[in-house]
Amino acid sequence: MPLTDLMYARGSTRAFLPRPVPTELVRSIIGAAGQAPSGTNIQPWQIHVVTGTVRNQVSDAVQFAATQPVERPEWTYDYYPKAWRDPYLARRRACGWGLYGLLGIQKGDRAAGLAQELRNFKFFDAPVGLFLFIDRDLGRGSLLDCGMFLQNLMLAAQEVGLATCPQAAWVPFDTIVRGILTVPDSQMLVCGVALGYPDPSAPVNRYRPGRLEVDAYTTWHDLPPSSSPR
Ligand SMILES: Cc1cc2nc3c(=O)[nH]c(=O)nc-3n(C[C@H](O)[C@H](O)[C@H](O)COP(=O)(O)O)c2cc1C
Repeated sequence: MPLTDLMYARGSTRAFLPRPVPTELVRSIIGAAGQAPSGTNIQPWQIHVVTGTVRNQVSDAVQFAATQPVERPEWTYDYYPKAWRDPYLARRRACGWGLYGLLGIQKGDRAAGLAQELRNFKFFDAPVGLFLFIDRDLGRGSLLDCGMFLQNLMLAAQEVGLATCPQAAWVPFDTIVRGILTVPDSQMLVCGVALGYPDPSAPVNRYRPGRLEVDAYTTWHDLPPSSSPR
């Protein structure tokens, strides 16, 4: 599939088949992702792949932590704004309600909302989970590099019939995830990714949030003819 078609075809997948993913395939996708550019080629990403028992251990520990009636730990980095405002607030709400609508979750049904949130911590049943870390003392630009790694990874997966869901939901549970994977405190969790074969029969996978038109976020600066260089 041409690259542009893959970009349009990719979507966050929130229901996976139990079908295992060959390790060599995961390795090749990670290798392709690692071709991402990074400022001065520092390649700041550190990837942990979890399957089998370790996957289940992380999943159980975070599901448990997420249901405890205690204040959620601080995010290790501010992925989302501290105070939401429009137009982002409206877009965020539209995204949430679009997803919940497909799942039949009514406004105010907190139990159903929490249950869906907790599915994050089962990697939406994907057999493979990835965690992306970086050294904490790096600059904010390294997060940009990680974003490029992540997009490469998702497109490489898409190309071979796999699906992904990037997951910031794991970030507040950085300490638990690092503890199980023995990642030192000098590193921080950037995000998780669910990876596997998509479940084509799951309604949630039909969710395709729309995008703005190009001109809604692009400003064109044409030189007026009179000021064109001779
Ligand atoms: C870095 C990042 C973190 C995300 N975290 C989550 C998450 O924790 N849970 C989730 O269900 N979706 C998560 N998403 C998916 C977004 O909701 C999704 O990308 C957005 O709604 C656009 O939809 P699409 O990916 O299907 O095109 C995340 C996306 C990104 C890029």
